[in-house]
Amino acid sequence: MQLFHTLGELRQFLNQHAAQRIALVPTMGNLHAGHCQLVTAAKRHAQLVVVSIFVNPLQFGAHEDFGSYPRTLSADCEQLAKVGADAVFAPSINEMYPDADAQGLHQTVTIQPPPLADILCGASRPGHFVGVCTVVAKLFHMVNPQVAVFGKKDYQQWMVIRQMVRQLHFAIEIIACETQREASGLAMSSRNGYLTEAQKTQAAQLYAQLGDIRLTLLTGARDYAALCRQAMTQLTQHGWQVDYIEIRHPADLRPSERNDKTWVVLAAAKLGHTRLIDNIEVALPFTQVE
Ligand code: PAJ
Repeated sequence: MQLFHTLGELRQFLNQHAAQRIALVPTMGNLHAGHCQLVTAAKRHAQLVVVSIFVNPLQFGAHEDFGSYPRTLSADCEQLAKVGADAVFAPSINEMYPDADAQGLHQTVTIQPPPLADILCGASRPGHFVGVCTVVAKLFHMVNPQVAVFGKKDYQQWMVIRQMVRQLHFAIEIIACETQREASGLAMSSRNGYLTEAQKTQAAQLYAQLGDIRLTLLTGARDYAALCRQAMTQLTQHGWQVDYIEIRHPADLRPSERNDKTWVVLAAAKLGHTRLIDNIEVALPFTQVE
């Protein structure tokens, strides 16, 4: 497995493998089994797997955790070699944003995402999906893959990227992988490292609430607002600060309607200073989500 820090080195490597089908797995590093699963899926769809590791300043708000986000490049590379990635691309900020200066990224060209990026996480993290779309579009241009793999853990991100790919005519197939979880149900996340052991145990409550909503939907309840309110109250009583819990249509995240047969329940909530997100897909029996 090879590690590249510059686009020049990466392009040289890619030119040597021009005939191969390339898959890109974009990440911010501090890798866990959720990320590794994306690499395994990528290997099924391509001959050459490139994993990018870049903590993208443009997708963090001013008071968010860009500074403290865990950076563990050598441990990440060890894991990636084990799961069979072919190349790691870990550019500097200036490599990714050539006109970044001491004032930051004001000079950068950005991608304006569709309105889908203004709801849910986009509502509480303004500008977040501008950052995500911009860096992912850059990576698509840099690596020029035929396939790119994303996790359903970041459900809205996956949807926004799919719309960007369609609307900007990227000839890239987007593959989505299921969310990998701890035994407790807690979705694996680089941000779980911020949690104390006690908080980690408590953090499983988020997915448990989503699971409860799922069961209630399957038994026929359709008062979506009441279901979400109930889950919010439960979490708040246990010390969470809930950002949102919403039941949406899985195809495009529009609000669910009474006769829907598939749903995705999405949540974001803070435990202490740590913001966690999760979601669960729900389908009536014999109905396919997606
Ligand atoms: P990051 O949070 O590092 O996640 C990289 C990829 O791993 C994303 O597609 C995410 O959905 C997926 N992922 C994370 N946790 C997962 C889990 N428990 N199970 C399955 N997949 C999981 O998402 C980002 O980075 C960035 O926004 C990025 C797309 C790289 C742009 O900067």
